[in-house]
Amino acid sequence: MSSAPRVLIAPSLLSADFANFAGAARAAREAGAELLHFDVMDGVFVPNITFGAQTVRALRHHSDALFDVHLMIVQPERYIEEFAQAGADIITVHAEACVHLQRVLAQIRECGVRAGVSLNPATPLSAIEYVVPDIDLLLIMTVNPGFGGQRFIPEMLRKIAHARAMLDEAGSEAWLEVDGGINGITTPMVVRAGARVLVAGSSVFGHPEGVRAGVEELRRAVWEAEERV
Ligand code: DX5
Ligand code: ZN
Repeated sequence: MSSAPRVLIAPSLLSADFANFAGAARAAREAGAELLHFDVMDGVFVPNITFGAQTVRALRHHSDALFDVHLMIVQPERYIEEFAQAGADIITVHAEACVHLQRVLAQIRECGVRAGVSLNPATPLSAIEYVVPDIDLLLIMTVNPGFGGQRFIPEMLRKIAHARAMLDEAGSEAWLEVDGGINGITTPMVVRAGARVLVAGSSVFGHPEGVRAGVEELRRAVWEAEERV
């Protein structure tokens, strides 16, 4: 069967060689990843600083993957337009960083970009209950944001399952994405819980046999999960 896979893979540049993002983007796409995940950090919302819209713009010429921009910044409304113009396909903001979340989500869509919202591990799903019609993607953080290579928080499996139920009940087509500690072991669990997009940094760019092996390992783990559903 050659139909598009149900579960999509989004390698995170946070674990790539910062001196060679173009090469990393190309390798991820050649390995079959559908999305490329950009972790934008401001040193305020999270205790780390990475890069901004210029990096997204520069890579747009090097990849036709869906650019999945994860904003871990305070007052993200200040930068939505800039990231949209830089070539983002999806812009995700943190519910914890937005006083007027619904307005920010509408602003993202007005820019012609898919609107995502993310929740830190401790934030309840009720924070987004009334904005479900405004989202195209729900990102459940499975670690506390800020760094790559952290351990998956097992309690998040229950949250993913609840999020799946919430979206299904609302008739929402929004993609359910997970981010943090996703590897060959955790993938079958999150897919069974209902995840649809897998963000993976260290298990892809830090794979000892290279990016292709990293993506293939995740893809195999997805198949394993789907066969057992
Ligand atoms: C964490 C970032 C993640 C990070 C995941 O704050 O949002 O996207 O790159 O890294 P791994 O897959 O190594 O846990
Ligand atoms: Zn991320």
